[in-house]
Amino acid sequence: MNRHHWIRLVAISILALPLGLILATTALGEGDPILDGSPFRGREIFFEKGCGRCHSVWGRGETLGPNISVAVAGKTFYELVGDFWNHTPRMIDEVGDRGYVWPTLDPRQMADILNYLYYLQLFDQPGDAVRGADTFARLQCFDCHSLGGRGGNSAGALDEFGAFPSPAPLARDMWNAGPVMQRAQIHLGRAIPQFTGNEMADIQAFIRAEGLRERRESILQPLPDPVQGADIYRTKRCGACHDSSRDGVPDITRSALSKTVSEITGLLWNHSYAMHTEMTSQGIPFPHFENTELTDLIAHLYFLGYIGADGDPETGATVFAAKGCADCHQGGVEGVPDLGAASYRSDRAALAAAMWNHAPQMHNLMAEKAPFWPKFEQDEMRHLAAYLRYIARASKK
Ligand code: HEC
Ligand code: HEC
Ligand code: HEC
Ligand code: HEC
Repeated sequence: MNRHHWIRLVAISILALPLGLILATTALGEGDPILDGSPFRGREIFFEKGCGRCHSVWGRGETLGPNISVAVAGKTFYELVGDFWNHTPRMIDEVGDRGYVWPTLDPRQMADILNYLYYLQLFDQPGDAVRGADTFARLQCFDCHSLGGRGGNSAGALDEFGAFPSPAPLARDMWNAGPVMQRAQIHLGRAIPQFTGNEMADIQAFIRAEGLRERRESILQPLPDPVQGADIYRTKRCGACHDSSRDGVPDITRSALSKTVSEITGLLWNHSYAMHTEMTSQGIPFPHFENTELTDLIAHLYFLGYIGADGDPETGATVFAAKGCADCHQGGVEGVPDLGAASYRSDRAALAAAMWNHAPQMHNLMAEKAPFWPKFEQDEMRHLAAYLRYIARASKK
């Protein structure tokens, strides 16, 4: 399936739901070291490999297995790998019962699927117009802007933003107007509005419900592209402050982790005033965003913490023993491969793929030996991976 075909499918499947995102055609990214895969390819592979025969995503696909976008919401790379493993016994049974072959994945496909599953959480649930009305009132937007024929108009009408299902264009134009708007607010003795949670999506839903428009058509936005976002991060010189640790400048590697577009937009907005001051003092121009630049940047920020820090090999050795892996893999059991011998352990996606691909055989053998399947919690998979990398390195010497 080519990319354009895929985009159409997503457009259709997403339009079936009132989700606050979405797209037209755009040059989508090919992969990036931070990402360790591509969410766009991952989406194709997910359906090509038949995961959709049991799982639904945003309402597309079957519902025998859990709704994937809910079940794995916001989990990062190693949490997802652990999650895959934890659920394999039932999947193996279901796949067997239906006479499907076990869907094996090569490392790149595994990286893409994991990436796609993480990406899903970036999208907001549709905003709530009633909550949006409250937020709009609390933040006093009507004092300076009109909407649906109401309110002051010193700073212009916001009706036109009602054409977008996504809050992205509103957020972008608000960001671009930020310094001017903040000056007006300070001039009037107002607190600068601060957003929490999904308020940006709620405001958007309110504007969409109230805004006067000639035609009620919707203008769709492209899917945020984290690879293009990495370019924006560079060209807007975010790294001038955020790439090295400095007093007063927060570490943003985990700021956007598992947050949605509107939460991240709110986060950026809340800091924009302080950031603007700091930028001015350093002679860095306040960044203006065109088209999809802001959402692409948001997708980049979202992925910064996806892989996370390396685990600790010593803790990993404990995990390896506690989960019973050592009983087979270091117990001289016949037919069990020596994990230290495999050089691909340096590739995290290859390890995830190997565990997934061999799960049915391991499951059979384990069912014979002891009816028990070890489960991984939180950081255990991260540590285990660090341990396997460590023994692979040690055995190569
Ligand atoms: C034959 C049906 C079937 C197929 C095909 C299938 N799954 Fe599953 N999957 C299930 C079932 C059933 C569960 C729930 C298992 C459990 O509760 O332990 C599950 C659970 C999961 C979970 C854990 C969800 C959670 O609750 O945390 C993930 C992740 C997952 N599947 C991913 C995939 C991927 C990726 C593919 C394709 C490579 C796939 N599945 C193919 C049936 C299937
Ligand atoms: C104190 C007055 C004031 C308040 C309150 C205010 N704004 Fe603004 N806003 C401005 C000014 C001034 C501009 C810049 C207008 C211009 O450049 O023409 C602006 C610009 C904008 C823009 C860009 C408009 C465009 O067409 O590009 C958006 C979007 C926006 N504001 C949204 C909001 C929202 C949402 C709220 C409530 C959270 C809000 N504003 C509250 C004064 C205000
Ligand atoms: C001139 C220095 C500077 C530049 C350039 C800069 N920032 Fe910041 N940034 C800051 C400071 C200072 C803060 C803390 C502000 C505060 O506490 O309100 C911050 C806060 C943030 C936060 C909130 C972090 C958190 O967890 O609370 C994010 C996200 C962020 N910046 C992203 C960016 C992005 C994206 C860019 C590029 C468009 C950028 N920054 C450019 C100085 C800068
Ligand atoms: C009951 C014995 C048994 C247990 C327990 C076991 N494995 Fe395995 N493992 C095997 C067998 C047998 C294979 C080879 C399967 C095959 O050839 O498809 C294997 C294969 C693998 C592979 C792929 C190796 C390669 O070279 O491609 C990895 C990675 C792996 N196991 C990791 C683990 C981890 C991590 C644990 C603990 C959570 C574990 N195994 C627990 C028996 C076991």
